[in-house]
Amino acid sequence: MVKLARSSCLTSLVLLSSFAFAVSTRERVPTPPLPILPLPSYSQLKWQQREIIMFFHFGVNTFTDSEWGTGHEDPAIFDPVGLDANQWVSAAADAGISLVILTAKHHDGFCLWPSKYTDHSVESSHWKGGKGDVVREFVDAAKAHGVDAGLYLSPWDRHEPRYGHSLEYNEFYLAQLQELLTKYESVREIWFDGAKGSNAPNMTYYFTEWFSMVKELQSSINIFSDAGPDVRWVGNENGSAGTTSWATINGTALSIGNASIERYLSTGDPRGTDYIPPECDVSIRKGWFWHKSQSPKRLSELLQIYYNSVGRNCVMLLNVPPNTTGLISETDVHRLKELRNALDTIFSVNLAERCSVKASSRRGGKDGGFGPENVLDSDHLWTYWAPGDKDDDKDRWIEIRGAAGGLRFNVIRIQEAVGLGQRIGRHEIYVDGKKVVQGTTVGYKRLHRLEGGVVSGSVVRVRITESKGLPLVSSIGLHLDPYWQPKDGNWF
Ligand SMILES: *[C@@H]1O[C@H](CO)[C@@H](O)[C@H](O)[C@H]1NC(C)=O
Ligand SMILES: *[C@@H]1O[C@H](CO)[C@@H](O)[C@H](O)[C@H]1NC(C)=O
Ligand SMILES: *[C@@H]1O[C@H](CO)[C@@H](O)[C@H](O)[C@H]1NC(C)=O
Ligand SMILES: *[C@@H]1O[C@H](CO)[C@@H](O)[C@H](O)[C@H]1NC(C)=O
Ligand SMILES: *[C@@H]1O[C@H](CO)[C@@H](O)[C@H](O)[C@H]1NC(C)=O
Repeated sequence: MVKLARSSCLTSLVLLSSFAFAVSTRERVPTPPLPILPLPSYSQLKWQQREIIMFFHFGVNTFTDSEWGTGHEDPAIFDPVGLDANQWVSAAADAGISLVILTAKHHDGFCLWPSKYTDHSVESSHWKGGKGDVVREFVDAAKAHGVDAGLYLSPWDRHEPRYGHSLEYNEFYLAQLQELLTKYESVREIWFDGAKGSNAPNMTYYFTEWFSMVKELQSSINIFSDAGPDVRWVGNENGSAGTTSWATINGTALSIGNASIERYLSTGDPRGTDYIPPECDVSIRKGWFWHKSQSPKRLSELLQIYYNSVGRNCVMLLNVPPNTTGLISETDVHRLKELRNALDTIFSVNLAERCSVKASSRRGGKDGGFGPENVLDSDHLWTYWAPGDKDDDKDRWIEIRGAAGGLRFNVIRIQEAVGLGQRIGRHEIYVDGKKVVQGTTVGYKRLHRLEGGVVSGSVVRVRITESKGLPLVSSIGLHLDPYWQPKDGNWF
């Protein structure tokens, strides 16, 4: 036995040394540079790539023609006779949306699921004889369409008498959270907001307990609130992030329902210690709930919102409210289709695609895998251009070259490899030597819609003038947006 062991040991020694020899003669494959902290989590990265997600505000307000219910509504008014959650989700799926969020409970306290902790719910309505469950129909419809589901549970509850008694209300709220996060399978986003009337009773929300409970019950969920911890509010409800938009921010400086941090929320912080990207919530109509008197925004306004949110490193959360029948109105379904068609028209063609591309330098040399050609492939995250890391390499640029005068475009798209940390703080873009863009952050996606309209040229150079460490550019696009007429500028 001993002998055998020794000889097999010897054999492996011989093997090992020849292996070591092989490694030492093989050329080293250049590695990705070190990440720059903080980094996104797996779920945050997945969320970011969704770009547009959808909100459904639905409840007693739909029937009382109001935005904020009083909490005294008679549940009998809730009677959406034609409710079909498949119609909601199919409108979303047709618009290319992969995550939909429902108001399981709004400020009025009326629950769209039969909560056992209150009788102020669908159970007390006439809808389906009190046997209905909108949350169930919603999650089932989402599943049937291969779309992910999220839920909103309003912290402010104007119906519940325990509201204002911190311990009792937090126990009640946590009980409802446990119901929602255990009964309805996978929930990908949960929405907490700080909205509350000025005369509402004082309440301390036990956010630490809520957030811990959420993470315990759902493994791939993102928690949205003014303060994150996974996704932060952008600081306004008109669908517009700051022109500087860092996903990084100091979580400790954030609190929920604090108006004085709205600007900080919209720009983020280059020195931020936490990765909490912004989400822009905005409604397709003026109100969040359906009102007979309102109609959807024009396509040009929705496109403007897209450029100001997705085009500024945010996710756009577009609210599309079901009507009293329990369906998304035809006008809104139509507008969503127009939006999808417009985005496909603008972005499915990258005019840079067949161009040559070169850069100031590249990491790891010619065949190192970090060359500028990576910005033209279809991977917008994990293949990227990385400059060489020599200290004298301060003028960092990447250049797209087409035939003389052959490029006509009015939108420039830049994306960073944010999986290794958001880095770029300033950039400039030149067309044939003339500066057309002076920009700051890039992040997951930055869209510049050129104020001067369509430009023609043959050389487009993106200069990175400020970056935390090496800038890593994963994609560049030149696009023609036929809907953009900068001269008639009255978008809002
Ligand atoms: C809430 O508390 C603050 C300070 O503790 C007090 O000034 C205010 O009147 C209270 N509001 C209500 C509605 O009780
Ligand atoms: C959006 O809201 C912010 C903050 O309230 C405001 O500064 C900005 O002008 C608004 N933008 C539009 C387009 O309404
Ligand atoms: C609101 O934010 C500011 C900082 O921007 C901070 O000084 C203040 O304490 C915050 N208020 C609350 C109630 O957290
Ligand atoms: C955020 O935190 C970092 C690290 O502590 C600090 O350098 C930076 O100044 C903070 N930002 C703000 C706005 O306070
Ligand atoms: C709700 O939308 C559906 C689908 O467009 C429509 O058939 C129905 O009449 C609408 N209900 C109301 C009250 O407008």
